[in-house]
Amino acid sequence: MEIKLPESVIRLVHAIEDGVPANSKELSLIVKHNIPERDELLHLNDFDHLPELSYGRRKLYENPIFCIYLMSWCPGDFTAIHDHGTTQWGCVLALDDFEHRLYQLTDNTLVLKDNKPFLKGQTASVYSDVIHMMGNNGDKNALSLHMYGTNEPGKKVAQRSRIFYPEINKMAISQGAAYLYNPQICNSQLHNFSNFEENTLDDYFSLVGKNMERNNSFNLLH
Ligand SMILES: [Fe+2]
Repeated sequence: MEIKLPESVIRLVHAIEDGVPANSKELSLIVKHNIPERDELLHLNDFDHLPELSYGRRKLYENPIFCIYLMSWCPGDFTAIHDHGTTQWGCVLALDDFEHRLYQLTDNTLVLKDNKPFLKGQTASVYSDVIHMMGNNGDKNALSLHMYGTNEPGKKVAQRSRIFYPEINKMAISQGAAYLYNPQICNSQLHNFSNFEENTLDDYFSLVGKNMERNNSFNLLH
């Protein structure tokens, strides 16, 4: 279905196409000068996404160098821990308040590095190898706008992203979304990975536990 883009998103698309950013910093500046209106985007939400998908993901626009997604987050919706693979520049705009976690791999162990929230109106730059997760820990539905680009026209973005699944001690290389692990929808090849620092695990399960209970993933996993 062809999506009729809101005026504020069309302005943003034109601004990116007119001054193609070379990196995430340049994109963030463009976004800050062309902030899309939440009210204009609300009707494009995907809050009634399948429960197996841990958040709603709707592609609004795509051309050979970048794409824009509107993500929809019900209370308890979270991404898995992931990076952004082939994405060369990108930006996320928070249209509501979010939990956010940054991680780093130290001696091949995944460790929590930052737990500052990602708040309404803020932008966050996307870098290929930065490992993070985000989600809605509040009690109202939330929206965010995600832009992913490449300096090599035609090369797909967000491919070969690393995704970490502490709940099964595995990781995978994904070709797209970063949904939480659910055996009903995961079709990526899984690799053993169990090097999660202890406090990092506690923090992770405190965030995604509700989602797993809601989706019955705990029962499917154990
Ligand atoms: Fe991400």
